[in-house]
Amino acid sequence: MPGLTAYVGLTEMAKFKKGDVVFVSGAAGAVGSAVGQIAKALGASKVIGSAGSAEKIARIKELGFDEAFNYKEGDVSESLAKAAPDGIDVYYDNVGGDHLEAAIGALHKYGRVAMCGAISQYNATEPAPGPRNMFLAVGKELNLRGFIVGNHYDLEPEFHKNAIKWLQDGTLQADETFRDGLENAPQAFIDLLGGANTGKMIVRL
Ligand SMILES: NC(=O)c1ccc[n+]([C@@H]2O[C@H](COP(=O)([O-])OP(=O)(O)OC[C@H]3O[C@@H](n4cnc5c(N)ncnc54)[C@H](OP(=O)(O)O)[C@@H]3O)[C@@H](O)[C@H]2O)c1
Repeated sequence: MPGLTAYVGLTEMAKFKKGDVVFVSGAAGAVGSAVGQIAKALGASKVIGSAGSAEKIARIKELGFDEAFNYKEGDVSESLAKAAPDGIDVYYDNVGGDHLEAAIGALHKYGRVAMCGAISQYNATEPAPGPRNMFLAVGKELNLRGFIVGNHYDLEPEFHKNAIKWLQDGTLQADETFRDGLENAPQAFIDLLGGANTGKMIVRL
């Protein structure tokens, strides 16, 4: 499911094209790490990822990301501008908030956004304000497209055909983090929101 989510968002929603510069947030997670690797496999000219620890940054570089930054260590817009001084074509949004605002600022004209998730807002006790620079979407003629993977299972055969090949030849790696026992499922969920996982958080029975 996370792999298909990555594939649908990148290819169908963001209309990825060979040579695109792609930025993905939540880049060490289950969906985000697949997005970066799939973008490289499909011919992205540059892939940039953001994540929340030095270990995660090191891991996504191992996975083939060209640039990566720890969003906890500085302003997201500044870090993105440093990683992609010539701007970006595609933003794959897992986080929302400051990341979406930074991406809107960095996107080229006709840039495309796959709106997959907004994890920075899931625990908010008040509705979060939108990106302050939304108006740039008008002048840049951006395309921001939300989606739910469950409505795109028609792409599963195409995804499987590619993903099986990529998994076999090592192009695509899927990290997993385990918590043992059903009684630990609530803590696993809390840990996921707190960033304790690299790749898919799995409760092992
Ligand atoms: N649209 C769909 O159909 C669909 C399907 C599946 C998943 N999703 C969405 O896709 C996103 C990724 O899902 P996933 O299962 O792959 O989860 P994940 O990325 O494996 O795990 C969540 C990660 O989010 C990061 N995070 C938590 N709070 C954050 C914050 N305030 N700012 C930035 N990052 C934060 C943490 O990593 P750090 O250590 O890097 O902070 C954490 O490890 C989620 O938003 C999820 O809801 C959407």
